[in-house]
Amino acid sequence: MEKREDPNDEVQELLQTLEQQTNWDGSPLVKYDGFWLPALFFRSILSFQKYFKAKDSDVILTSFPKSGTTWSKALNYSIVNRNVYAIDQSPLLTCNPHALVPPLEHDLYYLQDNPDLGNIPSPRIFSSHIPFNVLPASIRESKCKIIYLCRNPLDQFISHRHFSLKNKFQNDVVPLELDEAFDRFCQGIHSSGPFWDHMLGFWNAHLKNPEKVLFLKYEDLKEDIAFHIRKIAEFLGYPFTEEEEKQGLVEQIAKLCSFENLKNLEVNRSGYVHGVVEKSSFFRKGKVGDWTNYLTPAMAERFREIMEIKFGGTGLMFKI
Ligand code: A3P
Repeated sequence: MEKREDPNDEVQELLQTLEQQTNWDGSPLVKYDGFWLPALFFRSILSFQKYFKAKDSDVILTSFPKSGTTWSKALNYSIVNRNVYAIDQSPLLTCNPHALVPPLEHDLYYLQDNPDLGNIPSPRIFSSHIPFNVLPASIRESKCKIIYLCRNPLDQFISHRHFSLKNKFQNDVVPLELDEAFDRFCQGIHSSGPFWDHMLGFWNAHLKNPEKVLFLKYEDLKEDIAFHIRKIAEFLGYPFTEEEEKQGLVEQIAKLCSFENLKNLEVNRSGYVHGVVEKSSFFRKGKVGDWTNYLTPAMAERFREIMEIKFGGTGLMFKI
């Protein structure tokens, strides 16, 4: 993906003043509003904040990276467009979900400071990984809908590790070993971290205004996808009609968006997203609890204690 030239301007100046860290894979992170954001996307995050104007009909899919964003895109796209395309004609059969639901700071505002998004038909669906407080005011204050998807942080950590190693984003760097990377993760030093603040930002926004922010967990979707497809449709204001229920549309969407189906589609088996990310790397195992194959019981215990401290009393928790 061709990035625009970075001018020597106030964004560069601000960047120089921010605290910096290196992620376990060697990628630079900057601390902004309490979060470790990827330095690569700092300019696009600021442009997104400054220029994006949400419409009330917009749907913003937010997530912690590697929490099932691709799945969320496929599901929401199918739910919202179910009267436009029959399931067997779905654009998902020929396009990767990231091409149908464009990432805001990783794509649209990365390529241009102020892209023209006015021609995209409503309801527009976009995605973002940035924390709730860093989102443009118009997203937080308009009537647009926010759907947040998170995942057991241990599975997210392992998934992210595989994803970064496979795509070799930092070619010239030897990545940290798993135990050192885990130690940083526990300290909250990782892309979009600390994960607890990222999750709690959306969790609290959901508690405050459940009509505005839907809070989902990957594990719950895995347990009962049909229930969650109905829940998302209702939240967005497009509940399934009796006729659609009779036709089995919910089950058809679940099948279309399933890990096995998407992973095996020709369009997702080869090629790249944004020219640099292997499409196949978005579909690895798609399982709950894969972390147990990589992390020791002592690591899990340390993590359980961190979660008790960070999430205790909030109503948010993950099973270890
Ligand atoms: P694993 O690496 O554990 O397999 P994201 O889409 O946010 O980048 O997250 C990627 C994770 O979601 C990967 O997890 C990937 O396999 C999983 N995933 C992708 N599509 C999925 C789907 N349709 N259903 C369930 N999981 C999916």
